[in-house]
Parts: sequence; C-alpha cells; structure tokens
Amino acid sequence: MPDKVNILLVGGGGREHAIATAISRSPRLGDLWVTHPENPGLAGLGRAVDVPVSAREIYRLQQFCDHKKIGLVVVGPEEPLAEGFADKLASPTRAVFGPVADAARLEADKAWSKQVMRSASIPTADSRAFSDYSAARAYVESREEAPVIKAAGLAKGKGVVVAATKEEAILALERIMVQRVFGDAGRTVVVEEKLEGPEVSVLAIVDGRNILVLPPCQDHKRLGDHDTGPNTGGMGAFCPSHTLSPEMMQTVEREVLVPTIDALRRDSIEYRGVLYAGLMLTPAGPKVLEFNVRFGDPECQPLMARLKSDVVELMLATCAGRLDEVDVEWAEQHACCVVLAAKGYPDKPRAGDVITGLDQAEKLPGVSVFHAGTKRNDKGQIVTSGGRVLGVTALGIDLPDARRRAYEAADLITFDGKVMRRDIGVGSA
Ligand code: AMP
Ligand code: GLY
Repeated sequence: MPDKVNILLVGGGGREHAIATAISRSPRLGDLWVTHPENPGLAGLGRAVDVPVSAREIYRLQQFCDHKKIGLVVVGPEEPLAEGFADKLASPTRAVFGPVADAARLEADKAWSKQVMRSASIPTADSRAFSDYSAARAYVESREEAPVIKAAGLAKGKGVVVAATKEEAILALERIMVQRVFGDAGRTVVVEEKLEGPEVSVLAIVDGRNILVLPPCQDHKRLGDHDTGPNTGGMGAFCPSHTLSPEMMQTVEREVLVPTIDALRRDSIEYRGVLYAGLMLTPAGPKVLEFNVRFGDPECQPLMARLKSDVVELMLATCAGRLDEVDVEWAEQHACCVVLAAKGYPDKPRAGDVITGLDQAEKLPGVSVFHAGTKRNDKGQIVTSGGRVLGVTALGIDLPDARRRAYEAADLITFDGKVMRRDIGVGSA
C-alpha cells in the first residue's frame, strides 16, 4: 500500500471542485482539507480549514499544515500563487503544487512577462510598458493603429481592452492608470500590437525541467452564442480540441514552453506547476497573448474529467522533479463543460437565486456538475453566489456526444436568470 498523504486545496471555484473530485479518486489520499467550504461541492469532498487564509497571516496556514500533517498543498488560483503561498507553505516534508511567486509573475506582472518573452525570443505581440499616463497616451497617439491595453497586474481577467479606436485605447489608459479601476494592478500598463487569428490555449505541467503538454482544450470566452457579447472568464470548454495540429503543439512546446522555462532557470527560478500559454494563431505562426500560471477555469473541468491517472501521483511527481517517471493516461472519451452563469454576469451577477435539478443532472451517466459560484442559504437550499455558477461537464464517445450529454444535464438544472451558451464545442470538433 502506498503512503497516504493529507492534502490542502487552496481555492474555491469550479476549477478547484474539479481538482478536488480528481483528488478524491486517488488511493493516495489521506484527509482532504479545503479553504473554501462555502462551495457546497468542495464541502462535500473535504474538511473545512478553520484558520484565516491570507498572505498576511500565512503563518496561521503554515501552523495548520504542520498540525494536520499536510504533505501536499495544491493551489488553484493565481492570486495566492502571486502572493507567495507556494514559497511559504513548502517545507522539507510538504510539497506545493503551483509555482513560487517569482515564477507566478509570468501572469501577475505582464510587463515583466513580456520582458522574459523578449529576452528569450518567444513569439509575441510587440509591446511597450508604461508607468506614466502622459507617456502612454503620447505613445498611443503616435501609433497608426488602435492597440490593446493591458493592466500589468492581476485584474481578475478584466484588465485587457482590445480597443477598436485610439480614443477607446486612451479611455482605457485613463481608467486603468488614472482612475485606477483595478487598483495597483494598473500602476503599469502594457500597450500592445493587436493580433488577428484564432485563439487557442496550450497547457502543460512543468516540474522544473520536464514538460508534460496536456491534451489541447478550447474555451469560449464571450458571453453570447457565436462569440458575441462581452468577454468573460469562460462560458464553457471542451477537450480534446483539434484546432491545433500535433505539429503545431510541438512548435508551441519548442518555441514557447521550453524557452520560457529555460529563461526562468537562467534567473534561478524553477517553474513547478501548470503553465498555460494563451496564443493567437497569426499568419506568421503562433504568438503568445498571455501566460497563466495555473489551470484554466473552465478548461480544468474537462481535463480532470478525462484524466485516468492518479492526479495526486502526478502532482507529487511534479513537485519532486520526476515528471519523466510517470505515465499519464487520458480517457479516449471527449469532455464538454457548459458553464451556467448568473443573471447579470459578467458585470453584476445576481446572488441568491435558488438552484434546482442538481441531483437529476448528476445522475446522468458520464456527467459531473462542478460548483463554482454556489452556496447554501439559511434554509439549506443551494443558491447562486457568483458570476459563473456551475460547470456542467460530460464525457461522451465524441465531442457531439459529450456536448449532447452536457446540455441534457444543463437543461435539467434551473434557477432564475440562468445564462448559458448553446454552442459550446459547436463547429470546432
Ligand atoms: P488576456 O487576458 O491577455 O488573455 O487577454 C484577454 C483577451 O484579450 C484574449 O483572450 C484575447 O482575446 C484578447 N487579446 C489579448 N491580447 C491581444 C492582442 N495582442 N491582440 C488581440 N487580442 C488580444
Ligand atoms: N479560461 C481562461 C482562464 O482561465 O484564464
């Protein structure tokens, strides 16, 4: 019998519910502790951490981990990674899945990330960083085309404005740099050339040296069918996606992932965890739009649904730098995740709408319903409590089959104001 390991999972969204579900299948699991038990999905799988979870009082979580003999900490979201949870919670007896703060800057500091890409000749949009509003404005005015404006810091996925005109770009600069709508995340902005082409993501698990490229996934970022409406965190995802050929995946590994890891190593930064490259397939080849330092949400949901291997073994191997020793198996089936969002998402999601039909949906074969923005109210009912509410995920023999099952389940779930796209995975098989 392999040793059991107690695990702490940091994070409280649909991605973390999917990770917790995969962890729960592992024969290596001892006790699972979760930082966000208000998510009923997580509450059903793990025990509640009863100390504050914050960077400022990280010693409380360190003590908790010592006391509960936690052997593996899994950090889902980018904020705690950027705040150094991986640095501070690791110990000689405790591994952390997720990069250290210096490596998490790839996502948390877009100006620095662009510098890394430039120094390693990684294909990406031309850009300049500014900390002075007047200088940024003068630069935008001097350009021929309207550029893309990005707050350099973490802005919950909302800090990017793909401006249609120069006036719109200047307005974005003013909101980000002067009005500080994203706080300190807007202290510096990146002004970037606009790229055209289909957008794809490549996710990999990295153990410092070895890179395990994950099966290609695709998400749908716009709120409305046929890619209309505002950008969101993601309204659904499917896996595998065939938008990227195997040759293109190899190109991305060779030209993007490997040089990124090498560039960090030259600065004595070991990257351990998930590295997610958001790419645009331009006529000149794939170019990086952004790096994320964690699983995508909702991409993680179909990935975890297809993962046949033991996720705990995989994470422990990553932390130990022996990813080359594990064989990772994926189900032959396809997976499709349809996000159900709350009324008003993404601007002002409404909370408190009672959700019904969860049990019936979950009984369908191959279906998992991941909780993202839900909680229990005083009466014990499950209600909406966030923008993206649920990620209804199904396996099927092919993408149309997975999609059909996901929608069959999604249609059984009701709440007032439910928003969902009808075309997740359509036309992309
Ligand atoms: P990001 O958070 O960097 O992925 O940006 C959010 C979205 O903005 C991306 O998914 C793209 O659709 C778009 N975007 C970002 N950078 C560019 C760019 N240089 N050119 C065109 N669109 C972009
Ligand atoms: N689904 C996109 C992201 O997680 O950033």
